[in-house]
Amino acid sequence: MGRLEGKVAVITGGASGIGEGTARKFVAEGARCVIADLQLERAQVLAAELGDACVAISADVAIEDQVSAVVDLAVETFGQLDIMFNNAGILGSVGPIAEISAEGWHRTMDVLLSSVFFGIKHATRVMSPKGSGVIINTASTAGVRAGLGPHVYTAAKHAVIGLSQSVAPELGPKGIRCNVVCPGGTVTGLTARLAVGDHNNLEEATKVIGVNNPMGRGGRVEDIANAVTFLASDEASFVNGSVFVVDGGGEVIADRNGTFVDMGSITVQEADRTGV
Ligand SMILES: NC(=O)c1ccc[n+]([C@@H]2O[C@H](COP(=O)([O-])OP(=O)(O)OC[C@H]3O[C@@H](n4cnc5c(N)ncnc54)[C@H](O)[C@@H]3O)[C@@H](O)[C@H]2O)c1
Repeated sequence: MGRLEGKVAVITGGASGIGEGTARKFVAEGARCVIADLQLERAQVLAAELGDACVAISADVAIEDQVSAVVDLAVETFGQLDIMFNNAGILGSVGPIAEISAEGWHRTMDVLLSSVFFGIKHATRVMSPKGSGVIINTASTAGVRAGLGPHVYTAAKHAVIGLSQSVAPELGPKGIRCNVVCPGGTVTGLTARLAVGDHNNLEEATKVIGVNNPMGRGGRVEDIANAVTFLASDEASFVNGSVFVVDGGGEVIADRNGTFVDMGSITVQEADRTGV
């Protein structure tokens, strides 16, 4: 018996990276999945590979109607929705605060934060009547402290945690758990673009990401998928409103003076990180 036998999941951003890794893991654990992504073709290829257990749908998670349609597809195709993994994301607007446009701010917040609001709202719509369900939202280590990502990304990921913890006590009595996973630097297209300037060059990115991590490597999508699977499973039936940091103990990166400061979850150092 798989740990998710008989469960039905929606995975946003499921066509690549952490979402793809989680789709593979969920199916291996007995779940059926709706893979929702802007990259429809890639989602379809993955769904075909995973067989009858998966369907793919094109969706922009920044648009409420499209998130609602993804939830409805899970119910129409598989009869229910047990797990909502609100995971799709982008790096969004980068650069000094004075140079961030209002448009860039709003689009980034829509993709990273409004999407999670829509996902929670519409998953709850179908989970509440049956009195059970699990919602997992992808934040980031950039959601628990500043200095690990661009400004808007950091703000959005902090807010994902705030929203998740705010709704958890409301949803608990309805049989719905809402938790957050916070990956540290994990080798995916998103970080490969940052690390080596090429979304597709995961091989080179693997050599660079996490070189200063206490575990001696960057995260693998399987590391995050394993944590998400635990949160999604009945093993986590008393875990609600939690923030699950999966970062190998934290990244050590150089500050502007070239001094190394530990930016991870195990540090208690509170140096001024402006400009890091
Ligand atoms: N990789 C890391 O180190 C890391 C660390 C912390 C948090 N995260 C978060 O993990 C999540 C997954 O990122 P990843 O690293 O796997 O990157 P990725 O680029 O491999 O995957 C992101 C997926 O989201 C999809 N997507 C982007 N915008 C979308 C939209 N508007 N609607 C629907 N789908 C959309 C993309 O097409 C892509 O398939 C993101 O929320 C990201 O912020 C990643």
